[in-house]
Amino acid sequence: MKKEFKRTLVTTALPYANGPVHIGHLAGVYVPADIYTRFLRLNGEEVMMIGGSDEHGVPITIKAKREGVTPQDIVDRYHTIIKDSMAGLGISFDVYSRTTSDTHHAMASEFFRTLYDKGEFVERSSMQLYDEKAGQFLADRYVTGECPHCHNPRAYGDQCESCGTSLAPTDLINPRSALTDTVPVMKETFHWYLPLDKWEDYLRRWILDGHKEWRSNVYGQCKSWLDMGLQPRAVSRDLDWGVPVPVEGAEGKVLYVWFDAPIGYISNTKELCPDSWEKWWKDPETRIINFIGKDNIVFHCIVFPAMLSAYGDGYQLPDNVPANEFLNLEGDKISTSRNWAVWLHEYLEDFPGKQDVLRYVLTANAPETKDNDFTWADFQARNNNELVAILGNFVNRALVLTQKYFGGEVPACGELMPVDAGVFDEIRSLKESISSNIRDFHFRDALKEAMNMARVGNRYLQETEPWKLAKTDMARTATILNVALQITANLAVAFEPFLPFMSGKLCGILHLDSVDWDMLGCDSLLAAGVKLGEPELLFEKIDDAAVQAQIDKLNRAKEANALAAWKPEPQSADVDIDTFGRCDIRVGTVLECKRVPKADKLLQFLIDDGTGSPRTIVSGIAKYYDPEQLTGRQICYIANLPPRKLRGVESCGMILSAVSSDGSLVVIGPTGPVAPGSKVG
Ligand code: 2FM
Ligand code: ZN
Repeated sequence: MKKEFKRTLVTTALPYANGPVHIGHLAGVYVPADIYTRFLRLNGEEVMMIGGSDEHGVPITIKAKREGVTPQDIVDRYHTIIKDSMAGLGISFDVYSRTTSDTHHAMASEFFRTLYDKGEFVERSSMQLYDEKAGQFLADRYVTGECPHCHNPRAYGDQCESCGTSLAPTDLINPRSALTDTVPVMKETFHWYLPLDKWEDYLRRWILDGHKEWRSNVYGQCKSWLDMGLQPRAVSRDLDWGVPVPVEGAEGKVLYVWFDAPIGYISNTKELCPDSWEKWWKDPETRIINFIGKDNIVFHCIVFPAMLSAYGDGYQLPDNVPANEFLNLEGDKISTSRNWAVWLHEYLEDFPGKQDVLRYVLTANAPETKDNDFTWADFQARNNNELVAILGNFVNRALVLTQKYFGGEVPACGELMPVDAGVFDEIRSLKESISSNIRDFHFRDALKEAMNMARVGNRYLQETEPWKLAKTDMARTATILNVALQITANLAVAFEPFLPFMSGKLCGILHLDSVDWDMLGCDSLLAAGVKLGEPELLFEKIDDAAVQAQIDKLNRAKEANALAAWKPEPQSADVDIDTFGRCDIRVGTVLECKRVPKADKLLQFLIDDGTGSPRTIVSGIAKYYDPEQLTGRQICYIANLPPRKLRGVESCGMILSAVSSDGSLVVIGPTGPVAPGSKVG
């Protein structure tokens, strides 16, 4: 039997304040959490949505060091960007705070100290990499070196971002300290560990027996962790950025970021409700829901519950952890460091007034059961073919027809015919389906059903054709448009959780002061005679140029990345001057350039080499140049290579090109005019 709860606490993973938020964060966590919370609010339930920035951890310190600023500068900058952009998208947090707040530091510190005093930790020594020059232990991220798998020369001690493999710093070939570029040494240190093994049976019963209803990705990941057997986990680090370990002799140590971050949910609740926060965390009648991405599952389902259980004092465990899979972007993994992302704050600037379009696309394509891909082509298609063509079209027709035939006043409703009443039956049935899908965390399906409500409206107008009836039967026309407007009002309610900006706009036009879920399915939300606001388009088409601009932006990021990651090839072995001198390099003028038939890669050149009988050279650069681009240009070539046949054409020499950072070839030539046949040396 399902447990009854009095209230719901919705938590959303605290994003690291080392960069802005992107569409992956939104699709994974914030948009679904917001839909859920708005839905419960519309239902008049007691609910609170908690958010905040995760402001500790090593990547923040690395970024600060790189920029020559303090970690506090970094988190101040990104906390503001994140908070403002989330508000801009209508993510309706009740509180959005941060883990550098005093409330948080005090609570995280007290939490650790309580577990320490209760003897819930074990203390252990271990050998760790140490930078002798900097005089500090190195977090895994602070060690870089060559990846043993893909040989990326800049892999981190915890992961290679090139091939994605998880690493230990000791796996790296030629490890170096990111602080001083010196070779780190091994040195003994000690830390406090939470013995997860002690909680294994308890967690097994709680999750595997007690929460079979959890999403299969979440349940499955927990099961595999539990089946592997849990190990003690270090909850402190040698670092100077974080919550100091509140124990004597722990100088230079802070709480591990994953120990303090989830406590942030509690401290942010306390910041919002200093007097009543405990009821949200310790009352068994509070349902706690953690919205997270799949990379956070183990921390929310295993580590944090073990921490809360170790603390005791009535802390409740989550009722559900609806983790999403990942959203990719144009076929590639989203990456903050590679700038392969659609950043929310930039989207809001580039597409003003189009918050709901992004909310819609991210929900319609949410990675609920598997990784999904965001593409700008899909974004455009969903806007143009769904929001504009289905939802916007219906609402616009209802409003414009009312304007045309009734001067923009809600017309009086006569007796409802079966076709009219049937519409409201359909809406009521869709309402049930939307509700149960949202309660079961199936937001994609819920949104589909909401769109089906707009389809009901379109079909209704198609079937009843009020524009024809208006010529003969104004009374019936009035009833039909009254029904169409009531459907419109129903849409304003049904879409509020998903598209709150559109819903608000519609409420303004319809003069609906407030909406609640009970209104959905009602055939008399608007009173006859009410003068509606001016009809305005809810959505507009997005053209190819707008989408192309975004694709160009991504391509620029890709190029910048390739350039940043590029390193010149190591220098070749020495040659003596005589050997070099035997290589006859010349300048020639391209008289003719054409493609070699049936050879994608080859261009055939006719070169004026000053001899009076032009020479032919075939070169594999067709991918990078159109023949016209090179005709008339001066280029360098090696003149004394033996002739060889390429696709039946005899090539006498080789055109010199530089290999660019992205692998493309750029032909080399003199910077000013030179006589054809001039020697290079
Ligand atoms: O993965 C992340 O982005 C983490 N900052 C999430 C933390 S969630 C919670 F524990 F605060
Ligand atoms: Zn690698």
